[in-house]
Amino acid sequence: MEHNLRRHWKIGGLEIPSRLVLAPMAGVSVRAFRRQARRFGVGLVWSEMISAAGIQHGSRRTLDYLRIGSDEHPLAMQIFGSNSIQMAEAARMAEAAGADIVDLNLGCPVRKVMASGAGAALLEQPQLACRIVEEMATATSVPVTVKLRSGIEPGSRACIELGPRLAAAGAQALVLHPRAQRQMYGGKADHSLTAELASLLEIPVIASGDIRSCEQARALIAAGAAAVMIGRAAQGNPWLVSEILSGEKPEPSQAEVAAELIHFMREVVRELGERRAQSFLKKFYGWYLKHGRFPRQLRRELVDAGTLSAAEGLLLKAAPGAERLVAELEATISNAVETAAELPIVGPEAGPVDWTL
Ligand SMILES: Cc1cc2nc3c(=O)[nH]c(=O)nc-3n(C[C@H](O)[C@H](O)[C@H](O)COP(=O)(O)O)c2cc1C
Repeated sequence: MEHNLRRHWKIGGLEIPSRLVLAPMAGVSVRAFRRQARRFGVGLVWSEMISAAGIQHGSRRTLDYLRIGSDEHPLAMQIFGSNSIQMAEAARMAEAAGADIVDLNLGCPVRKVMASGAGAALLEQPQLACRIVEEMATATSVPVTVKLRSGIEPGSRACIELGPRLAAAGAQALVLHPRAQRQMYGGKADHSLTAELASLLEIPVIASGDIRSCEQARALIAAGAAAVMIGRAAQGNPWLVSEILSGEKPEPSQAEVAAELIHFMREVVRELGERRAQSFLKKFYGWYLKHGRFPRQLRRELVDAGTLSAAEGLLLKAAPGAERLVAELEATISNAVETAAELPIVGPEAGPVDWTL
């Protein structure tokens, strides 16, 4: 049987054009990243996790996460928190900001988030987790979904017990990253749990974790997943999206890689401003330039370049053919309007969660 990832599917009433989904990644999943993945063919993009408390307090940094482009649909907005009333209000705000799906985070393994009872800590509070889903579903008219890990301890099967309860509470899809919270990102995702969970549920189950090839993606769909989600493997490598969708490995030229990176840098500057963009982009240089695409020292030179226009100059020198491609990419940008919910802003916030803690 052909497991074509280009087949349409649905979450609730929401039509999704392909079975490849972009993962939420704090500190990575900015609009530029989401737009790029969409251009290469992902069917659904995810915002990084947004604090329900931050939304309630109207902090500027948090509200910026609610800003999405009108060309980004369908988009899931993920929120985290442990207070059901606050979560319901945050879900309402996410919908008002344009989210097509509101997703509850039940997987964040970071100590600071867990200490507040949110993220993966909710795996051990099934009643509260279900109440939050119920209240979010009552507060919004878009589908509510949950992204969860397998459990807290390695070997835990908490997700198998919790999944059906979350569905009964109103979740219209689940994303399973089948690693335990204590594993953080070590070990391997155990997708036998994904298949088992999918076999128990009527609602779609999306597989997340360690997916890097078309074969893996097709095998997971064959095993019962409705769609697959890619995260780390897509960092600096949007060509993987085409590869997973088509089964054919594209070999981008140096000019194509440099052009994608330059266009991405410009998009990030437009989104975050020059100063924030400069530090944000540093991790992306290595991601784009690896895979033997450029001499190793270029990454260091870009990081040390001082300004983004100097970094751009270095890339154009290394791949002169990129200039024309960048112009073409820049010309494709639609006049997408950004939307953001109206909320009073009360001041700056500590900033996003450092996912690596
Ligand atoms: C840097 C980073 C940030 C992440 N941020 C989030 C997040 O905000 N919300 C979430 O549900 N998962 C988050 N994740 C987990 C990913 O969505 C995904 O489930 C996990 O990385 C496994 O998939 P992968 O092997 O394709 O990366 C993050 C992962 C990474 C590496």
